[in-house]
Amino acid sequence: MPEFEVPIIRPRRLRGTPALRRLVSETRVNAADLILPMFVREGSGDPVPISSMPGVVQHTLESFPAALEDAAASGIGGVMLFGVPEHKDARGSGAVDPNGILNLATEVAVKTVGDALVVQTDLCLDEFTDHGHCGVLAPSTRSGAVVIDNDATLEVYREMALAQANAGSAMLGLSGMMDGQVSAVRDVLDTNGFSDTAVLAYSAKYASAFYGPFRDAVQSSLQGNRRSYQLDPANRREGLREAELDIEEGADVVMVKPAMSYLDVLADVAAASPVPVWAYQVSGEYSMIEAAAANGWIDRDRAIYESVLGIRRAGADAVLTYFAVELANRISRGIDER
Ligand code: PBG
Repeated sequence: MPEFEVPIIRPRRLRGTPALRRLVSETRVNAADLILPMFVREGSGDPVPISSMPGVVQHTLESFPAALEDAAASGIGGVMLFGVPEHKDARGSGAVDPNGILNLATEVAVKTVGDALVVQTDLCLDEFTDHGHCGVLAPSTRSGAVVIDNDATLEVYREMALAQANAGSAMLGLSGMMDGQVSAVRDVLDTNGFSDTAVLAYSAKYASAFYGPFRDAVQSSLQGNRRSYQLDPANRREGLREAELDIEEGADVVMVKPAMSYLDVLADVAAASPVPVWAYQVSGEYSMIEAAAANGWIDRDRAIYESVLGIRRAGADAVLTYFAVELANRISRGIDER
């Protein structure tokens, strides 16, 4: 038997008291690092609850301003807006219409909280197309397979970018995963007097099962899947490559999405990127926490904090999360998880 050695190195020393733990904490979550995704539907009346996302609603233009004021009061960094139009068509016309719901909602947000929050908009066609894809479809092939026309979609994204910039969006969230979308949008902004409008590239956006509840939230009409444009969940190197391409094309911020199942990709991108790196804790990640907490299986508050902290620790400078306002309010009251 080797002789018992009293440890000389004792990492536990720094874990002894809440004050020590607070002082040596490597990662913090600040309200300013959080961005709240919000849904605004066409039509009047009360907000509509989203059944698969307890606590999240589709706002109407009437209920929206008060929610924006709450968001601003919580001290979060920004909001990301999604529109839920009443009518959809093959080309997603509602997306480029200045009176389309997302563009109207953007005007309201800029007017209400534009100084306090960075008002951002989702730039993608899926909420507006009757087929539910993020781009326009190429003429049907002989096999009947659905093909997304990349370059024709870029033309629509350029129109959508101008409509969003005109409505006052400070940052366009390019989430469609079309090749060349960042440079296509950057070019149209710069040649139309919007060189100050920023581009957030959803660079490494994976074809994920965790978007399920979001598709309820925007009443998606998608048939099939997005695997011909979103990344294969198996691919780590490719996630970094997509971010590097977007940075070359002029992205101001790059993003990894979803967050929790892709922390390795997030860490890779954070290590390499010269621009801010964000991550999106998506609808399914939110709903899993809510569902487990509702069953009493996990401590809801701690799980929310730990999930966002983990995403920050992996390298995200900011996090899009449906918990943003609640978490920001808890942080300002002085969360004590230590
Ligand atoms: C595309 C878009 C999606 C999400 C954000 N932007 C849906 C998709 O790609 O299917 C998902 C966000 C979430 O699940 O919370 N407009």
